[in-house]
Amino acid sequence: MTDTCDLVSDINRDRRAGRLAAALNELTDVDLLLERVLSDARALVSAEAGSIYLRRGDTLVLAISQNSYLERIVMEASDLPFLNYILKLDRGSLAGYVALERKPLVVNNTMDIDLDAPFQHNTSIDNSTNYVCQSLMTLPLVCAPGETMGVLQLINPLDGEGHIKGFDEDDVALGKFYVQSASMAMEKAMMLRSMTIRSVEVISSHDPQETPAHAQRVACVATELYEHWSARRRVPTSERFRILDMLPLAAMLHDVGKMSIPGAVLTKPGRLDLNERALMEAHVLIGARLFRKARTPLDRLTFQIILDHHERWDGQGYPGWVDIDTGLPLPGRAGPGGRVQGKKGEDISIYGRILAVADVYDALVSRKTYKDSFDESLSIQIMEQESGHHFDPEVVESLLARRKVLRKIQDRFPDNLETSDLAGEAPLAKAPVAYPVFIWPCRRGWRAMETCQRATSGR
Ligand SMILES: [Fe+2]
Repeated sequence: MTDTCDLVSDINRDRRAGRLAAALNELTDVDLLLERVLSDARALVSAEAGSIYLRRGDTLVLAISQNSYLERIVMEASDLPFLNYILKLDRGSLAGYVALERKPLVVNNTMDIDLDAPFQHNTSIDNSTNYVCQSLMTLPLVCAPGETMGVLQLINPLDGEGHIKGFDEDDVALGKFYVQSASMAMEKAMMLRSMTIRSVEVISSHDPQETPAHAQRVACVATELYEHWSARRRVPTSERFRILDMLPLAAMLHDVGKMSIPGAVLTKPGRLDLNERALMEAHVLIGARLFRKARTPLDRLTFQIILDHHERWDGQGYPGWVDIDTGLPLPGRAGPGGRVQGKKGEDISIYGRILAVADVYDALVSRKTYKDSFDESLSIQIMEQESGHHFDPEVVESLLARRKVLRKIQDRFPDNLETSDLAGEAPLAKAPVAYPVFIWPCRRGWRAMETCQRATSGR
């Protein structure tokens, strides 16, 4: 009877692993994907903790770490102690060894590792957290050409009573199966992010204000705003996840149309004349045309964001109700003097309303060629004054509600951050990061615990 129960349990576990692995392909955002990979892998083998390291040259950088025990005993993610944790790609750690050998490794009691073993357990994280990694399964994340992309480490599997039980052969088989799918999904998502960042880099060669770091900050703020707004509006969880997965990439491309605007207009320090202004405003239509023949939901979202991000809540924005090919009013949308009617209020997509807030807020707190950066209080004050005029009041409320994280986003992505540090090569955070659990590429590291819980409860 017990054997039959075990068999049924194994089959169910295999099916679950297959389902979870297949679901990874639906994710495009690297941050959500890493969270999902780690939380799913932990759930499959009942691991209390786990980490993903990403390779950067001859090092492994801790990209994400989850630990149910530590999360229970600390109240804030910022109290968690990991900070820019880096391992050498050598035999001085289990992760380094596995990255070199590209083979799974199980150590069920780190105390039993002989001094002459080909690998050693690096105890520095254990020492800094007072959490003992006793039993570890370390799996290589390998991308298509056989290159090691990183390492997934699962720590301390628990039995039904919460005792560490060690990994068995079935756990290893399940882990090996799962990391194959995880590696492919991660490679695809990283490539997509990398290509997006490089597109922004092309824009920045025309307009030095449009740095990849600016695009990244706007994407972060927009994601925070949508998360808050959608929770308040009780948007169904599946829809929230779907949008949160696409929003960062779509948001980064909001000014892609600037690639076609003359540099002299983009970089002019003073006020623009009427012709220059018309040229500048055309970036919205030029960008939207790139995504007009939308093939994917990500294309559709990007189109909406580009088209609506300069609309204003009070109807005074642009481009309004236009045919995006001709720039002329849509039928029945011509106002006095044949002018295009502006989109107003909730006629503007929520994504455009959110981008407007995120984009202007970042412009206020950043240094520009035409102005110094404003401090946070003044910037918030300006945003509040424009609530109900330029901006959707509800989105401004979300900005105020997420005020605590805004400064952290600024710190995390300073303008001098190298493009390679955003594009997919497991970079180090150069700014001081005080919210360390998810270091890179999880942009929302400051919200580590909440996102961890959400990733787990969202299925
Ligand atoms: Fe714009």
